[in-house]
Amino acid sequence: MQNIKKVAIIGTGVIGAGWIIRCLAHNKIVYAFDKDIKLKKKLLSEIKRTWPFVKKLFNKKKLNLKNFHFFTSIEQTLKDADFIQECATENYSLKTKLISTIGKYAKSNSIIASSSSGLLPTRIYSKCKNPERGIIGHPFNPVYLLPAVEIVPGKKTSKNNLDLAKKFYKSISMNPIMVKNELPGYLSDRLQEALWREGLHIINEGYATTEELDRAIEDGPGLRWSLMGTFLTFHLAGGKTGMKHMLEQFGPALKLPWTKLKAPKLSKKLCSRLISGTAKQAKGKSVAIISNIRDQYLVDIQKLRKKYQKKLR
Ligand SMILES: NC(=O)c1ccc[n+]([C@@H]2O[C@H](COP(=O)([O-])OP(=O)(O)OC[C@H]3O[C@@H](n4cnc5c(N)ncnc54)[C@H](O)[C@@H]3O)[C@@H](O)[C@H]2O)c1
Repeated sequence: MQNIKKVAIIGTGVIGAGWIIRCLAHNKIVYAFDKDIKLKKKLLSEIKRTWPFVKKLFNKKKLNLKNFHFFTSIEQTLKDADFIQECATENYSLKTKLISTIGKYAKSNSIIASSSSGLLPTRIYSKCKNPERGIIGHPFNPVYLLPAVEIVPGKKTSKNNLDLAKKFYKSISMNPIMVKNELPGYLSDRLQEALWREGLHIINEGYATTEELDRAIEDGPGLRWSLMGTFLTFHLAGGKTGMKHMLEQFGPALKLPWTKLKAPKLSKKLCSRLISGTAKQAKGKSVAIISNIRDQYLVDIQKLRKKYQKKLR
């Protein structure tokens, strides 16, 4: 299979919509399906909302909506697709069943990727015909703007299909991260979840609000993270001898230990602190308005980041 052109998106919620927009921006022919057939109208308005950002980031001129086809039958959606991105609700039994249906109707050499945030591919492809074509292609929200995608193989995935998936994601301007073997939560969500759990403890114990914890990231580590991750950042924290001195100085703190990691119970009190805390942070702005601000920022920062990444990579 050479350049993959025809893509099917199964499940068109937040993430499915993101893939659709990214693929359309890269001139792919997109076939979409959701068990909720009313989503087509919502999708079109999301494409319209996001196009100005996508257009700017990828220097595109025109959106060709003729390449977008929303079907009410999964069979019809899959029939011609060379690459299938599954984006249904995160749940082992739902995905295993859905992927088995996808495997039945898809062309035998099409690649099937799941957007799952942490489920094991060997398990969700266990009932799929030709499981050697099954991978995880885990993106980040908003998919239409963020370049990261984790490619995770299952025990039966073939090397050739991993290479084809990598090539496909590159053709839609993504930077694939090849994960060697499957592990729950993959890479990035493992890291994100550690931070999230710790935040829940701090809020639960009343040390800080959601806004204060967000500021602690936004104004500090977060500003650095889009250029360099934790490890290179800590290398600089060690002064002239880098990581060596960093480990000598801060290594002992690992034994204190500062973090709790086991998640606290999502009690009524904690949920209410999270919901009222984030509502206060939103200051009455809708999710769509905040998304527009975030999207504009992500376009601008990625343009700036390119300039600096060239010096590091
Ligand atoms: N939201 C995120 O930030 C994020 C980030 C990365 C990956 N993911 C992953 O992407 C996937 C989708 O998440 P989401 O946030 O878009 O969820 P969502 O709830 O917004 O959308 C899920 C969609 O799947 C549809 N669906 C459910 N069962 C279906 C079926 N059998 N056939 C067809 N459609 C079906 C639903 O109708 C819904 O529209 C999940 O696996 C999730 O873990 C989510």
